[in-house]
Amino acid sequence: MKYKDLSHWMERAGAWAEDYLTHLRDRPVRPQLAPGEFAARLPAAPPEEPEPMEAIFDDFARLVPDAMTHWQHPRFFAYFPANASAASMVAEQLANAMAANAMLWQTAPAATEMEQVMIRWLARALGLPDAFSGTIHDTATTATLSAVLTMREKALDFAGISEGLAGGPQLRFYVSREAHSSIDKAMRIAGIGENNLHRLPTRPDLSLDPEALAAAIRLDRAEGHRPAGLILTAGGTSVGAFDDLPPLLDIAEAEALPTHLDAAWAGSAMICPEFRPLWEGVERVDSLVFNPHKWLGAQFDCAVQFLRRPEEQIRTLSLKPAYLQTAGAGEVTDFNDWTVPLGRRFRALKLWFVLRAYGLEGLRRMIRNHVAWAEALASRMATLEGIEIVTPPSLSLFTFRVARAASAAEDDRLTRALLARINEDGRIFLTPTEHGGRAVIRVVVGQFETTGEDVMLVADVVRECLTGLGDV
Ligand SMILES: Cc1ncc(COP(=O)(O)O)c(C=O)c1O
Repeated sequence: MKYKDLSHWMERAGAWAEDYLTHLRDRPVRPQLAPGEFAARLPAAPPEEPEPMEAIFDDFARLVPDAMTHWQHPRFFAYFPANASAASMVAEQLANAMAANAMLWQTAPAATEMEQVMIRWLARALGLPDAFSGTIHDTATTATLSAVLTMREKALDFAGISEGLAGGPQLRFYVSREAHSSIDKAMRIAGIGENNLHRLPTRPDLSLDPEALAAAIRLDRAEGHRPAGLILTAGGTSVGAFDDLPPLLDIAEAEALPTHLDAAWAGSAMICPEFRPLWEGVERVDSLVFNPHKWLGAQFDCAVQFLRRPEEQIRTLSLKPAYLQTAGAGEVTDFNDWTVPLGRRFRALKLWFVLRAYGLEGLRRMIRNHVAWAEALASRMATLEGIEIVTPPSLSLFTFRVARAASAAEDDRLTRALLARINEDGRIFLTPTEHGGRAVIRVVVGQFETTGEDVMLVADVVRECLTGLGDV
């Protein structure tokens, strides 16, 4: 296949995509597939000679979609949706066609400068002060890793980047029990070690307890360890917990602790001013990440990190070997200096398309609908016999469980059995978590094309799946 054949195949791919996406509602959200079943349908060895595109395309359409979990399905209420708007899909095709590596300004001037402009647009959209600059990573995991590496280096007076960690002070980091596992992963990769991450207790509202934070820092200092960073949560993955930022930031400031806020999911909601009290004090954090790929329609992957002092992250991550030195250095931004990988995709383009194609008001309408529908659904589910809402909607995320047996252990077993039935049914897709040591089921509303009816169907499916549950 040649570039001159692209318009034919892109048209075929575009027609396939439109048909697939507009008829997704008719498919089960998840395939009923045994592990290994799909791989067994593929040849064991690659072809020696070129195959016609026609055959490859046909095999794709015949084999792949039926073996996929459909993340853009309007009744995907699992994990956090990775929302892909149509405009973002078009932008990705254009970025793919140019296939640039945006590691340096010189290697992709428009990508670099559009990234700077999109960071400013998004800061404004979220109500963040102009003092924040930032960059785009692939995922929140990488953004958090970058922030942790920078906090580590601040604590070591930037000696770790040359000397390593051996023989240095024991660094300590602090998060709430509701924080995401990407923070544990950052501890591993940054050489700090998971045991040096304090997962601290929360208050009844699931926010990190400031007294527990202050006590942990005191104890660490008394034992000769070095507190290095506080990582805050706005919208935890399990049940949507929010830390109460002001008292925690007071402590961080008094202790000269740098801070990073993980708002991977909930950050998008802050384009709606009425939700901003949930992260009151955000302008005081040193770094924060949110994923437009979760709830803003800029498809995976797209994680935006805002930074108050980018020079600290640049000092931590930047390397300038001779083969990367370019004309204009000093006058331009080379974004690989801000991020872990050298190579970078042109991710700003889909943000530009999305923000223009839907407008902030269009995106706000969608998010407000999701939140209102989640609330309506939770209210309806609370009336179902044998169902208990465990955590009420945090934005568009709530959890429930079966509550009808004589013991907690039996209710947990029934809750897991209910979830298995729901997902075998196929009309909706939900995922599990634990809360207070008990099994619960999460519902997250957030797919771009979902409707109020799709959301309300969750209650019907749950009611139907409850019938006869535990009878055998
Ligand atoms: C709160 C939170 N932080 C971090 C992550 C990790 O996101 P990513 O897949 O972009 O690394 C997630 C993923 O769902 C999340 O919910």
